[in-house]
Amino acid sequence: MKNQLIVFDTTLRDGEQSPGAAMTKDEKLRIARALERMRVDVIEAGFASASVGDFESVRAVAAAIKDSTVCTLARASENDVRRAGEAIKPAARGRIHTFIATSPIHMEKKLQMSPDRVVEAAVAAVKLARQFTDDVEFSAEDAVRSEFEFLCRIFDAVIKAGATTINVPDTVGYSIPSQWGERMRMLIEHVPSSDKVVWSTHCHNDLGMAVANSLAAVAAGARQVECTINGLGERAGNASLEEIVMAVRTRKDLFECETRIDATQIVPTSKLVSQITGYPVQPNKAVVGANAFAHESGIHQDGVLKHRETYEIMRAEDVGWSTNRLSLGKLSGRSAFRAKLQELGIPIQSEEALNTAFVRFKALADKKREIFDEDLQALMSDEAVTPEAEHYRLVASKVVSETGETPRAQITLAVGGSEKQAESDGSGPVDAIFRGIENIVSSGADLLLYSVNAITTGTDAQGEVTVRLSRDGRIVHGQGADTDIIVASAKAYLNALNKLHAGIERMNPQTETV
Ligand code: KIV
Ligand code: ZN
Repeated sequence: MKNQLIVFDTTLRDGEQSPGAAMTKDEKLRIARALERMRVDVIEAGFASASVGDFESVRAVAAAIKDSTVCTLARASENDVRRAGEAIKPAARGRIHTFIATSPIHMEKKLQMSPDRVVEAAVAAVKLARQFTDDVEFSAEDAVRSEFEFLCRIFDAVIKAGATTINVPDTVGYSIPSQWGERMRMLIEHVPSSDKVVWSTHCHNDLGMAVANSLAAVAAGARQVECTINGLGERAGNASLEEIVMAVRTRKDLFECETRIDATQIVPTSKLVSQITGYPVQPNKAVVGANAFAHESGIHQDGVLKHRETYEIMRAEDVGWSTNRLSLGKLSGRSAFRAKLQELGIPIQSEEALNTAFVRFKALADKKREIFDEDLQALMSDEAVTPEAEHYRLVASKVVSETGETPRAQITLAVGGSEKQAESDGSGPVDAIFRGIENIVSSGADLLLYSVNAITTGTDAQGEVTVRLSRDGRIVHGQGADTDIIVASAKAYLNALNKLHAGIERMNPQTETV
């Protein structure tokens, strides 16, 4: 495609660096398949050196994805690059993304390396990466606070060493659009052989300008944007994919490039990422927020009804807001169920797993006549939890809540295989059930966030509960869905406790030096 803007999605790597957003291998696979359906060009699947689990996840994504390039991050060290090379081996198209910090503050305080040694390490990492793949990206971490001459020097050196994409990150979200566009333009102008590589931008949102900065870089000649679904990412997040894609598409008059993205996949993918990571999407978020296409005021509604372009610059259906697509019903059989899961990109592990999921689907269809895609996604998230990851499981619960009376909960849990029971009062039914669980578990965790959303429309919809728990500085999210929101709450709480119990720590590639 002439003047293609490469969309590099890093939801599974930078997005995962958000507190409590760590994903399992199966969760990553589901999101990666959704990104592939969306026609994302490059999927950064994780940081392969973080742990054995992360390595396995990257490898599994590399093996499963055929239509997008699969990439993994590596610090500029021999060990990281070799691990990255191993992890992307099964990929139809694999990329190694190696990086090192280049700002005076990072080189001196974090790396404790001289500028000369930083250049040496970058060149060595790129040369080694080229032994595994022809597709090598180099990032100068904290480029925003790096000296221009030093950036030119290191980029020139890594291009000579074989880098094919040069990424310029605003790691700390410090820039403003005019400055960021100018930096990109100057780099492209001054770095020798700059026409031999793809220039990329990677912006964080600390001052709320990640998307604006990314677009300024694109206008200045960058032909790759690094972004995440829903703008997920460390601190205030990364530039959001949906906003960049729709800005470039809606303002064709301003941008001399186009993406390959199938925009109708944006909303379903946004919902999937939110559901898996436990990061809700704010209602007024551009493109994917529930209100993004809602018109409250009478004047606007009247205008839209007469002629939609009076107030709408994009069409809701073009970004996938056809919503609540009726999936299956009470009478749907096993083969329709299997076909629907395949269409949604949900992996079916075995015939036995399919049968168990089918029984749960039938039970849900008994409670709720119409089953939508969103219901199936939630159901299958529950199913994806392996018995090993489910140290605590809800067996039964009973909650009595009556006007003027103190709510009371009885709960039975399976804990490591044996059943335990407890009762508790609470200020409300959710408090009562959480206290009941704590009477058994005594986790010592603090509840930081509780939210409930209807997955679809209608009073018979499933409620999806998200909780955020913290213990000893560790933050985890838990989700649970059910037509009974007290049961959904208990499931979400237990899901978070199971993550705390599993104790998986993820190494942050940027704060841990080699
Ligand atoms: O923000 C950043 O600098 C990064 C790099 C590792 C690309 O995420
Ligand atoms: Zn980043």
